[in-house]
Amino acid sequence: MDYSNLYIFLSTLLAIFPTTTLAFLFSAYKSKSHEKSINLPPGNFGWPIIGEIFAFLHDDHEKFVGDRMNKYSKIFKTKILGERTVVLCGTAGHKFVASNEEKLFAAWRPHSMQKLFRSSYQKAASIIMPRQMEKHVSQAPGFLRAEAMVGYVAAMDSMVLDHLKTHWDGKQVVEAHRLTQLLVLTLSAKFFMGLEDSCRIGKLVELMDTMMLALHTIPVNIPGTAFHRAMKAAPAAREIIQSFVKEKKEVMESTGNKMHDLLSYMIATPDPTGRFMPENEIADKIMGNVAASFNSPAMTTTFIVKFLGERPDIYDKVRIEQLEILKSKKSGEALNWDDMQKMKYSWNVALEAMRLIPPLQGTFREAATDFTYQGYTIPKGWKVYWTVSTTTMNPEYFPAPEEFDPTRFEKATPPPYTNIPFGSGPRICPGKDYARLQILSFMHHLVIRFKWDLVNPNCKITGGMNPFPVDGLKVRLQAQPSQALVVLRTYVE
Ligand code: HEM
Repeated sequence: MDYSNLYIFLSTLLAIFPTTTLAFLFSAYKSKSHEKSINLPPGNFGWPIIGEIFAFLHDDHEKFVGDRMNKYSKIFKTKILGERTVVLCGTAGHKFVASNEEKLFAAWRPHSMQKLFRSSYQKAASIIMPRQMEKHVSQAPGFLRAEAMVGYVAAMDSMVLDHLKTHWDGKQVVEAHRLTQLLVLTLSAKFFMGLEDSCRIGKLVELMDTMMLALHTIPVNIPGTAFHRAMKAAPAAREIIQSFVKEKKEVMESTGNKMHDLLSYMIATPDPTGRFMPENEIADKIMGNVAASFNSPAMTTTFIVKFLGERPDIYDKVRIEQLEILKSKKSGEALNWDDMQKMKYSWNVALEAMRLIPPLQGTFREAATDFTYQGYTIPKGWKVYWTVSTTTMNPEYFPAPEEFDPTRFEKATPPPYTNIPFGSGPRICPGKDYARLQILSFMHHLVIRFKWDLVNPNCKITGGMNPFPVDGLKVRLQAQPSQALVVLRTYVE
């Protein structure tokens, strides 16, 4: 192995910062001798300093993890994103993570995310949803709790319909990825902030898209890199949100406006010590929430469009299910909660899309203390990574795993911890019910209005931990006859 880079790095440090370097060397020595005395998991840290970062970011993600899992074991060590990391694989690994939150693990986000999302950078805590905010969110009236979802359905339905009429109707070819991003952000801007200004929403989509490309990357701020672009986009997005927070606060003060969304709740509700959150802090938290609710639902809907475009047989079955629901409604009546429960096949399509292309491949924790797993000791401070693909592509749980087959979820419920696109345990995605509503409302209106095929059937999917289609997933639209019920009869006959 070539250690010359390490020597150059250390001697430069020593020349510039002698005290810091000595402290660094001492703590490195201490942790090295501690690690020598314990039974570490098998694996390879790769190159000095950089570790296995290039393979992790540029290889196919499933392959990166799968190759090492097969070579070493269902627990292996690596060095990624600047951190010594242990990867826990398989159902046992998922269960271990889910069962030991807050006991053995603390939430941890990569340095790139910490730098992009300021509030958690300062606190080095969970970025997207610092604990303090989780409390806010869980207590906020009408936010992400399951019972609150019932009230969202009709509004979501009409916004999805408006979006389709404005951006899809009358078009021959559309870029599904960009449009699903726009839809998702339009919905979260409305539901989390009460923001309906399409100009600011359009700008936020561009900025968030730029930031998403740098969520898991090397946080070196050099012009020309994705991280540099993201570091310029983040303050611009924060500025838009913060100026809206200010506007909203003024309107609330002058009109005595009551709370309708998360933002007004955060503005109007003091913490237990009686302190109101400052505008910049609110903006940071809202930005984290908008980011968390942006990429995964947009990618899931994009990939549903892809799979339905490729598989007319599955498209037909989704359409029949949705037309049945439409048939039960009065003309112009919005979807309601019960309708959502009837969309079983459509949801299985969504689950299958997330199984084959997980929109978020996995997340990290930090070992809060030394712990032992399967006979190996993981030192305090190491990062712990879990990833969905170590179970979702296992033929033992999902026969013919490469095949897109939504009926597999009808035939049998997958065993626990095998299919967990939203994670599991106490840190399971808090937006999963909300995401389900978005996805199903969109599928309902999309298949009723259109049939489509892919402009580029071999469109490459890239992006590592946050996969996306390289060409934006261009689809050729064909409007369905407006008299949908007539079409239903044709299908049924
Ligand atoms: C298809 C859509 C979605 C998928 C597949 C998804 C998936 C995930 C996954 C895998 C995690 C990590 C769980 C873990 O660390 O173990 C997560 C966390 C999170 N998600 Fe989602 N998510 C989706 C939509 C949403 C939406 C719509 C929101 C907001 C409304 C949201 C908010 C969050 C937040 C705040 C966290 C962090 C929770 C924590 O660290 O404790 N997600 N999501």
